[in-house]
Amino acid sequence: MVQQSLMTHQNETVALPQDLLGRFLRDLRISVIDRCNFRCQYCMPQEHEERYRFIEKKDWLNFEEIFRLTRLFVRLGATKVRLTGGEPLLRPGLSFLIAQLAGLSRIEDLALTTNGSLLAEKARELKKAGLRRLTVSLDTLDKDLFHTMSGNRGSLENVLEGIREAERVGFQKIKINVVVQRGVNDHTVLDLVRYFKGTGHILRFIEYMDVGNCNHWHSKFVVPSEELVRLIDKEFSLKIFPAHYEGEVASRYGFADGSGEIGFISSVSQPFCRTCHRARLSTDGKLYTCLFASEGTDLRGPLREGASDEELLRIMTGVWHRRVDRYSENRSLAGPLEKESPAKVEMFQIGG
Ligand SMILES: C[S@@+](CC[C@H](N)C(=O)[O-])C[C@H]1O[C@@H](n2cnc3c(N)ncnc32)[C@H](O)[C@@H]1O
Ligand code: SF4
Repeated sequence: MVQQSLMTHQNETVALPQDLLGRFLRDLRISVIDRCNFRCQYCMPQEHEERYRFIEKKDWLNFEEIFRLTRLFVRLGATKVRLTGGEPLLRPGLSFLIAQLAGLSRIEDLALTTNGSLLAEKARELKKAGLRRLTVSLDTLDKDLFHTMSGNRGSLENVLEGIREAERVGFQKIKINVVVQRGVNDHTVLDLVRYFKGTGHILRFIEYMDVGNCNHWHSKFVVPSEELVRLIDKEFSLKIFPAHYEGEVASRYGFADGSGEIGFISSVSQPFCRTCHRARLSTDGKLYTCLFASEGTDLRGPLREGASDEELLRIMTGVWHRRVDRYSENRSLAGPLEKESPAKVEMFQIGG
């Protein structure tokens, strides 16, 4: 899809901002809560809890504030919105926000990423509120390993029941995110393929990323997508599918027998910074332009101090105009960064 560089708003045509690498803003990720009921080692390990202070409720953007900022992001070009976290289904009343966002006509895609633990009870209201697409994270079908990987908190059966309920209420082509770590869950990849092949849902294998500081990432745990493609192709013949649009993060493959699709997100082995159109809004209202950023720009302060839409737009546009982020590309040019870099934002603060 070619991004329009002009947009008409209330009969006034405005130029959409481009960053210093010529990228437009197209996707908005909103972290609605930084808390989670899991403690995945690669994201929010249990031992991190003593050092991290979750954002206090008074500092969360309320729904009115999220809605107002989203409308402004839409004026800057965003057409896709994804709600994430932490675990977004822990945010009380989330369906109210979804219903509001679903009413914004310029949003073509409204999606949510969840660990699935609360999906069985919430899928129906999410659908009714107008959520279009769901992504469920599920790293293995081994019950005990699943429990361990969730920091001894999650139940595999709950998540599978959540996916079944989501199907029953009408969600189709659910994306199933699998973070693969060598020596942890890589031996269970084929089980997932066997389970989801033919269901219409789309498995997406994600390379373990060096996001944040608390997961003690090391390149030896990364399983490059190429290796997984070879492994899966041996049992189920695969063919390459074309991207839906320029900048799609997952490389698409299909089963040669026509029984579905799988994707690979290779942000470590094949970074895609050049086509990254994503802005991220944290629970406390900071704007981040990279998953690996250290600092965000505060929007909540000006918002609560009474800034007008035009003033907020000026701040947001300025951030986007100055954007030069290409962390993953730089990482691959420099070779793997094994050392912890200082103060990167954590994944659960700005969502995946
Ligand atoms: C941060 S979670 C937030 C939403 C929800 N709690 C969930 O787990 O789906 C979003 C996605 O990021 C992925 N993720 C977290 N840490 C990661 C890491 N270090 N490398 C790759 N993916 C990661 C998760 O597996 C999940 O699919
Ligand atoms: S990946 Fe999702 S479920 Fe796991 S700890 Fe992070 S936010 Fe929670």
